[in-house]
Amino acid sequence: MTVEVENKLDLAKRDAAIEEIARKFSVRAERGRRFAELTSLRVGGAIDWVISPETEEQAAQVVHALNETGVAWRPLGSGSNVLADDAEHHYVVVSTKGLKGEPLFDGQRVSVSAGYSLPRLCIEAGRRGLAGIEGLGGIPGTVGGALWMNAGAYEHEIGNVTESVRVARGGRVVEIPGREVKWNYRHTSFQEGELLLGATLLLHTDDAEKIKERMEGAKARRLSTQPHGGRSAGCFFKNPPGSEKGTGKIIDEMGMKNEKRGGARVSPIHANFIVTEGENARAEDALALAEEIRERVRREHGIELEYEVELWRSKDSLESGTNSLESGVWSLESKVSSSEPEDETGTIENPKSKIENQTDSRLQTPDSRLSED
Ligand code: EPU
Repeated sequence: MTVEVENKLDLAKRDAAIEEIARKFSVRAERGRRFAELTSLRVGGAIDWVISPETEEQAAQVVHALNETGVAWRPLGSGSNVLADDAEHHYVVVSTKGLKGEPLFDGQRVSVSAGYSLPRLCIEAGRRGLAGIEGLGGIPGTVGGALWMNAGAYEHEIGNVTESVRVARGGRVVEIPGREVKWNYRHTSFQEGELLLGATLLLHTDDAEKIKERMEGAKARRLSTQPHGGRSAGCFFKNPPGSEKGTGKIIDEMGMKNEKRGGARVSPIHANFIVTEGENARAEDALALAEEIRERVRREHGIELEYEVELWRSKDSLESGTNSLESGVWSLESKVSSSEPEDETGTIENPKSKIENQTDSRLQTPDSRLSED
């Protein structure tokens, strides 16, 4: 038998197993979706399956069943921090967007599921006179994505107020204390294979009007300094550690605003944003532009820019049991997030100023389960 025929047989078996899991746990499983529809950059190729659990328990059971069956999967929130390549991705995307039950407020605490909109949560908390996340109000994306990458803006980071996080382990929802998580700059100690289901945040009381003012101030700053309404993934690169200049300013000073490759362009508003344009924009355009930026920054400043967006490679798709996402051309140097292009008011904001979604850039395989540390 040729390798191609064997692969087809494997896929047929895998597909039957996925259908069985979807039936058993009554979750929606769809074929025919593309990353171009599910990410804010609006590029990226076909996905074999998208599974969309609606409760945290269901999500925990489904990923456990996928692990047990040896089916590779990746979690995706609102896709606001992911650049997926243009080819076919032969794995299951577990969408966390359905995990969006109403948050439960109790005194200064709020328990919220991973798929809930971060901007909406900030508004709900502010209305109740609960402060601590108002700087995050303009970040389109889900709570899960924010947790995954420790989203931050305007002096607030979600990790600072996270009392506990709920994750999927062994088919169950397990709560881990926030102090056991390492919350770094746009990065956390959550492990590949880990599905974040929700969290309890501990906020503090303040005057609701003052919170609202701060939230509106942050939003106005964002709207005046970052592109919105376009197709982006928020800041493309991290700010270099120890450099007094941010990445946006560095790229801007090199005169690269408006630089174009195919359907991808360096935003004329903020140079650390790559936006895509037109029907024919491709992931490879954005990647080529990003690599050109890295090359010039390396040459002219001796700085190695790290991706802040996650790069998802189709070629890793079937390499179950290995975590090949960290090798190769598409080196994965950061976790990501993404977001819903629309915020709670219907305003289109810059996708993802990080949050978003819980998108681990790494492939989930049976061998890459959660670890307790
Ligand atoms: N600047 C330029 N040219 C540009 C962009 C920025 O000169 O093209 C200058 C600005 O004028 C300002 C300085 O650079 O003096 C810093 O810019 P900004 O305030 O926009 O902050 P940043 O460091 O570029 C960071 C985060 C943003 C976050 C803002 C506000 C990173 C990589 N970026 O941007 O996060 O919204 O601070 O808190 O950490 C994201 O994570 O996706 C993101 C957009």
